[in-house]
Amino acid sequence: MATKTPIHITVTGAAGQIGYALLFRIASGQLLGPDQPVVLRLLEIEPGMKALEGVIMELDDCAFPLLAGVEGTTDLKTAFDGSSWAMLVGSIPRKAGMERGDLLQINGGIFKPQGEAINAHASSDIRVLVVGNPCNTNCLIARSNAPDVPAERWFAMTRLDQNRAQTQLAKKAGVSVDAVTNIAVWGNHSATQFPDFGNTLIGGKPATDVITDRAWLEGDFLTTIQQRGAKIIEARGASSAASAANAAIDSVNSVWRETPAGDFASLAVVSNGEYGVPEGLQFGFPVSSDGAGNWRVVEGLAHDAFSAERIRLTTEELLGEREDVRALGLVP
Ligand code: NAD
Ligand code: LMR
Repeated sequence: MATKTPIHITVTGAAGQIGYALLFRIASGQLLGPDQPVVLRLLEIEPGMKALEGVIMELDDCAFPLLAGVEGTTDLKTAFDGSSWAMLVGSIPRKAGMERGDLLQINGGIFKPQGEAINAHASSDIRVLVVGNPCNTNCLIARSNAPDVPAERWFAMTRLDQNRAQTQLAKKAGVSVDAVTNIAVWGNHSATQFPDFGNTLIGGKPATDVITDRAWLEGDFLTTIQQRGAKIIEARGASSAASAANAAIDSVNSVWRETPAGDFASLAVVSNGEYGVPEGLQFGFPVSSDGAGNWRVVEGLAHDAFSAERIRLTTEELLGEREDVRALGLVP
């Protein structure tokens, strides 16, 4: 029987596809560890509440020993009250043919009030992972509306892109996925992201020494990762869900577990000007954690002209998104 005090976790959009793949893993201990009880606060909008009732029945029916409580609500205060981790998943997913920019206006209105509610009601140790797209800028909106929550407590999810890159590189090199390390995904979780093969290691050696097909790295590899979300939407008629939930768990783990020496994980965090990225952007960087929730951007990675240009392009896109949401009055 678990003896630790339960940690409250908020999941928004809990009745959606990602929610369905995520909640059972959280309740079984895969998010915060096998001896850490959790209370789930599940936020939905009214049309999702009926489905959420069913999800809560299923959570009950699993008899998870670590699940100390679960509450479904449409009320922002109830959802975030006393929460230590908020996973902001609920938003309007991209449909076939739509780019993330199209979503800014629709989703921006969701993340401003959620940021305000986190500021007003969450626990003083709150940390937030934004999954709902466009996740970098949704995170920027929520963070900008929560002035009392330190900027380093906000994360947007580029981990799915890292995991995708890891598998594609492993397949090409004919090695197991765990031989591929040090994958930095720079910038936006969008088609401009840059999965940085130039700093990746395979079996401890530069990936570019193991995979000498530079045309593949700069061509098929890059577009496969950049377009993977769209390909999944095309194939499934719905966006990635189980792999996204898996990456959300990995993202939280990469904050509170110690990063293996010499490695790093991809997370979009607030820029303090590292690598010349404009301050304040929620930007995909290589991040290392001390295992106590303190993370830093790993500095000193080198970029050739090709990589530098890719990073410039994704930075431009995020600056454009910031201008758009400023114009909408969603961030100062
Ligand atoms: P979904 O449509 O299945 O579920 C979304 C849920 O959010 C719905 O149940 C809906 O009722 C709810 N919702 C909508 N507005 C809400 C609000 N204001 N408050 C609370 N709940 C609200 O979608 P999904 O497949 O679960 O995807 C969710 C989001 O995650 C989408 O934006 C998708 O594009 C994004 N996503 C991000 C990544 C990533 O790597 N960052 C990967 C996959 C999907
Ligand atoms: C993904 O990467 O699978 C998601 O962000 C969905 C999308 O819109 O690409």
